[in-house]
Amino acid sequence: MATGTGSTAGGTADTGTTGRITEWKALGSRFALLPLRLFLGVTFVYAAFDKLSDAHYLAGAGDPASFYAQTRAAEGGSPIGWALAPALHAPTFFGLLIAFGELAVGLGTLFGLWGRVAALGGVLLSATLWLTVSFHTTPYYLGNDLAYLLAWTPLLLAGTPYLSVDGYLTARAARDRARGLAEDAVRRRALLDGGIAAVALGGAGLLSGSLTAGFGRDEIPAPTAASGTGATSPVPQTGPTVPAAQVPVGGSATVKDPASGDAVYIVQPAAGQYAGLSSVCTHSGCAVNPPKDGQLYCPCHGSKFDAATGAVITGPAVKPLPKYTVTRNGEQLELGPQQS
Ligand code: FES
Repeated sequence: MATGTGSTAGGTADTGTTGRITEWKALGSRFALLPLRLFLGVTFVYAAFDKLSDAHYLAGAGDPASFYAQTRAAEGGSPIGWALAPALHAPTFFGLLIAFGELAVGLGTLFGLWGRVAALGGVLLSATLWLTVSFHTTPYYLGNDLAYLLAWTPLLLAGTPYLSVDGYLTARAARDRARGLAEDAVRRRALLDGGIAAVALGGAGLLSGSLTAGFGRDEIPAPTAASGTGATSPVPQTGPTVPAAQVPVGGSATVKDPASGDAVYIVQPAAGQYAGLSSVCTHSGCAVNPPKDGQLYCPCHGSKFDAATGAVITGPAVKPLPKYTVTRNGEQLELGPQQS
């Protein structure tokens, strides 16, 4: 008798444990895409604000870190280079379109509002970036845009049915059907409320993005293009010049290599030490950012170069940035020939 009772209790405990494990498994399957959704949503919102707050992003042709310069650098080697002409013709419009597109995709994904539409936007943006800036990355797995493109695919297929506005609207539609509301009315209600939520979220994104672009941008000195002979220069000048006052220790000014047309950073890594470093990344030709904290960073695949020597600190680039001599003539710095 006693044995029978114990056996029953043990059996109940086993059943309880098995049941809980089954529940946890079901819960895990249900929310399997949630970490990916959070990551992609946060990343795209972050990327949008990063662009909108970056003074270089819309600076135009004279700034090698600008959207224009990056697009121009990608144009030659891209399989869709022919399609980039409108972006080069209206870089401010397309630069903002990409930044606000990323913001819309990120917010839609985070809130789970029209999740498949947001994921489709993520697929299109990632595919565009893959086919332009990272198409020639070798080996292919170092190109992050291809990974993002594939990461969006599960969300495109599954949508955002849980912990989301979409989930709320679907559950409410089911309740409406259960209480006998006509299918047309159910759909109209879901579409209307989804539209209102999209307008509210889009308005909030537009406002915060515009405020960031208008007031939250870093200040940079205006890039300096090649200039003619300085009035007070004691020697004839043959290369592009820039006032020495525009190149603080750790900072840079931008000039153009008259031979290649490439932008070159004139840098002063230590007091009185000047050099010129090409802005063209030796990995796949993207424009590296101006020096910061002693390094030049390439936004395409993350290579880092030493701001004093141009040497590679972090790959995938393996060759240093081409270096130029720079001479100081009074208050002017003059770019000399390329050394390496
Ligand atoms: S182009 Fe790939 S790291 Fe610069």
